[in-house]
Amino acid sequence: MCGIIGYIGNQQATPFLLEGLRRLEYRGYDSSGFAIRNGEVSVFKRIGKVSDLEAMIPKRIEGMCGIAHTRWATHGGVTDANAHPHCSSDGKIALVHNGIIENARSLRNRLEKEGVKLLSETDSEVLVHLIHREVKNGAKPLTAVRRTLKRARGTWGVCIIFEEHDMIICARNGSPLVIGLGDGENWIASDTLPLQTLTQQVIRLDDGDLAVVTSEGVQTSRLDGRFTDSEVTTLDDDWGEAELGEFPHFMLKEIYEQPEALRQCLTGRLALSDGNARLGGFDFSSKKLQKIPHVRLLGCGTALHAAQVGRLLIEELARVPALAHVSSEFRHNNPVIETDAIHFAVSQSGETADTLAAVKEIQLKGGEVRGVINVVGSTIARQCGKGCYIHSGPEQSVASTKAFSNMVAALSMFAIQIGRARTLSREKGKRLTKSLQKVPQLVDDYLSNPGPIHEVVSAVKDAKSVLFLGRGISAPVAREGALKLMEIAYIPCLAYPAGEMKHGPIALLEEDSPVIVIAPNDSLKDKTVSSIQECRARGAKIILIHEEGDPIAEESDISIPVPSTDPMFSPMLTVLPLQLIAYYTALVLDKDVDRPRNLAKSVTVE
Ligand code: F6R
Repeated sequence: MCGIIGYIGNQQATPFLLEGLRRLEYRGYDSSGFAIRNGEVSVFKRIGKVSDLEAMIPKRIEGMCGIAHTRWATHGGVTDANAHPHCSSDGKIALVHNGIIENARSLRNRLEKEGVKLLSETDSEVLVHLIHREVKNGAKPLTAVRRTLKRARGTWGVCIIFEEHDMIICARNGSPLVIGLGDGENWIASDTLPLQTLTQQVIRLDDGDLAVVTSEGVQTSRLDGRFTDSEVTTLDDDWGEAELGEFPHFMLKEIYEQPEALRQCLTGRLALSDGNARLGGFDFSSKKLQKIPHVRLLGCGTALHAAQVGRLLIEELARVPALAHVSSEFRHNNPVIETDAIHFAVSQSGETADTLAAVKEIQLKGGEVRGVINVVGSTIARQCGKGCYIHSGPEQSVASTKAFSNMVAALSMFAIQIGRARTLSREKGKRLTKSLQKVPQLVDDYLSNPGPIHEVVSAVKDAKSVLFLGRGISAPVAREGALKLMEIAYIPCLAYPAGEMKHGPIALLEEDSPVIVIAPNDSLKDKTVSSIQECRARGAKIILIHEEGDPIAEESDISIPVPSTDPMFSPMLTVLPLQLIAYYTALVLDKDVDRPRNLAKSVTVE
């Protein structure tokens, strides 16, 4: 979703801003823009790729202070005028904004009555005109920004530059901003990725914070005017630079990173001799785990599917009710919160607005939420306070892959931990931890010999729709497979629990309709065979993902075996062919694999 980068210091700003924009591209965007302070404020913006923007910027543009933005349209269509930065009428102030100004309509009406001509349809533009009005009335820049934001309702991560002042003012409320500290120079960004190669020292703004950033330093304050001392933290440098290396796309690279990512997640957390797992960051006592009435997990998209796998594992191993909820629905359904229940927020980015809102709803009602998050120091991680990082490393492809596997791995460990605190025997715990420890190697084994994926691609690439079926723990895996193929290859996909197929989706089946069935070697397999037969009787083509050596392969038209593991952990294996099918189908259809249309990597609006 929208991204921000800013620079002020002793070097030319343009290279930092363009490189920052490129590093923000993974978030998903439809236009980009750039403003630089060079005696005046020069603004360039346009729809399309960052490379299109770069082509319109004069080669020799000078200036040591600037801001830039990638926009993902919310208010107003994808047009050059709606791209950020937005400028005051005299062109002396430029602003970039992430988030949504909810009362933009009434602010806009008032500005228009005063004769201000707004040039875009965005909610953001009102802010720069209000700041300008304050400045015209004699306010200093910080006061002008503060007064403006006090009138705004909604969410913002904003950066503003002024022709007449050598500073960037930024502010956060609901949309993250991080300030990277250098020597005689400072950066501002909407996430840490563009800062990774520039500095390790950062200040993360909190909601309600403002900061005046100059080349010499940073002064933070609150919306009410109080000056504050900001905490400087060190970036986790083991994330390093996420480069493509020998891979053509980040998605493929991230699929192939799964064995190592899983090792990072599991290392040091499995207590094999005790048949237990330790996720210290959750800070749950055995007593608490014994007493809880239920577990609830929240997430969106891929994170929701991982939560759905997790809830089945928890219920199975700990014999405690567990539910997974769509974050975007949760808050609006006035949920009853039991204060001694356990809640988890599952998120790769840690910035998903719907999940963040659900966390706040639970906390408001007295409940506690633990994060199951990838991005260290992200908003949800900090809002939860306690939790476990899944350690996937940076995920840049919009389609999430390795984060799914690591979320499932983390929740599998929690399921063992809560199981052991309740009814799970040490012997069974030992068996489970041993087999969980082997999963990364099995993932490696599968990826080195992934089976006839290209045959599947030929079967699905021209299909009107593709049906994904699975039972039990494979039902969320089927949903994940459908989401992946739909979001990057734009093929309509349906995912159903296999037993539910005969209650409706079967009507879609005709000669050669592709049906992808996930059937690991679990207790539900025989029932899934019945569903396969019902599909075959209607002429459907069965693509079967199953355990190596299982005679169930005979039920398929295309068989994709995956290595054998405990059925509970099968999602970390059965999801792999689904990721590859989506990737190679999108490639054959010539789609933008890493940046599918209309989608964003971190969805920071509700
Ligand atoms: C799917 C995908 C999205 C995200 C969803 C949640 O490939 O990437 O569906 O899974 O937007 O994002 P996080 O995990 O960052 O909360």
